[in-house]
Amino acid sequence: MITIKNLKKSFNGFQVLRGVNLVIPEGKTTFIMGQSGTGKSVLLKHLVGLLSPDEGEIWFENRDLTKLNEKEWQEVRKKIGYLFQEGALFDSMTVGENVAFPLIEHAKLPENEIERKVDELLSAVGLLEAKDKYPSELSGGMRKRAALARTLALHPQVILFDEPTTGLDPILQRSILDLIMEVKNRFNLTCVIISHDVPLALHYADQIAFLHEGVIAQIGSPEEIRNSNHPFVRKFLDSALIDGAKEVSHEG
Ligand SMILES: Nc1ncnc2c1ncn2[C@@H]1O[C@H](COP(=O)(O)OP(=O)(O)OP(=O)(O)O)[C@@H](O)[C@H]1O
Ligand SMILES: [Mg+2]
Repeated sequence: MITIKNLKKSFNGFQVLRGVNLVIPEGKTTFIMGQSGTGKSVLLKHLVGLLSPDEGEIWFENRDLTKLNEKEWQEVRKKIGYLFQEGALFDSMTVGENVAFPLIEHAKLPENEIERKVDELLSAVGLLEAKDKYPSELSGGMRKRAALARTLALHPQVILFDEPTTGLDPILQRSILDLIMEVKNRFNLTCVIISHDVPLALHYADQIAFLHEGVIAQIGSPEEIRNSNHPFVRKFLDSALIDGAKEVSHEG
C-alpha cells in the first residue's frame, strides 16, 4: 500500500533518517517503535508531506509522494489521515466544530448532512455528550478521541497515529486501541501506529518495525519480534517486559 525506499533526512547537518526502507501493507496494522528522538515522528510526517526528504521515495497508488506539489498533496491528505502526537484540536472551536471542520473544508456537503455525520462520528468514539464542549474542558483521553473522530471524518484509507495512547491510563489505552481496531475493521483501514508500549504492540500489531540509528533495524510479526536476537530490539523489549509484566492476554 505504501512503500518507503531509502528515505534520508537531515536537520542542521545531523542525519536523522539514514535510508529507511519500509513496506506498509494494506488493511494491516503496523507499529513503529524505537527510542525517543530516533525520528519516528519525522518518518510519519514525510507520509503526509509535512516534511520532504533529502533523498528517497515514498510510493502510494503508483505515485512517488516525494514528487508531489502542494495541490496534489491536498488530494492525498484526504486518503492518508494523520493524528498528531499532541492531538492538535482547534482550541477556539467546540468538539463538534472540530469534527465538522474537515467536512466543511473538503467534503462540500449540505449543512444538515454535516451535522448528521458529526453526530455519527462522535457517537462512534463515545463523545456525543461532549459535542458542545471546548478542548480545554476535556480530559487527555477525551481529546485523543475527539482528534480521532476528526481524522475519521474524511474516510481516509490510511491513518497514521503518533502515540495515540501515551499518557493515558491502561484501561483507556486499551479502549482507544480497541476503538481504532473497530473502525479499522469497519472501514478496512490501513493503520500505522507509533508507540513505546511493548505489550500493546505485541497484542495489536500485524507487524512491528523498529527504528534505530536512522534505519529499520528489524521488522517482523509480534511473534518474530518477541523472539528477536537483535541487540537493540532485545534490550528495548527486555526493558519493557521486566519480570511478570508480560504482554496483555489475547483473550482481551
Ligand atoms: N523540524 C525539525 N527541525 C529540526 N530538527 C528536527 C525537526 N523535527 C525533528 N527534529 C529532530 O529530529 C530528531 C527526531 O525527532 P522525532 O520527533 O522524529 O523523534 P521521535 O522518535 O518521534 O521521538 P519521541 O518518541 O520522543 O516522540 C530529533 O533529534 C529532533 O530534534
Ligand atoms: Mg515522536
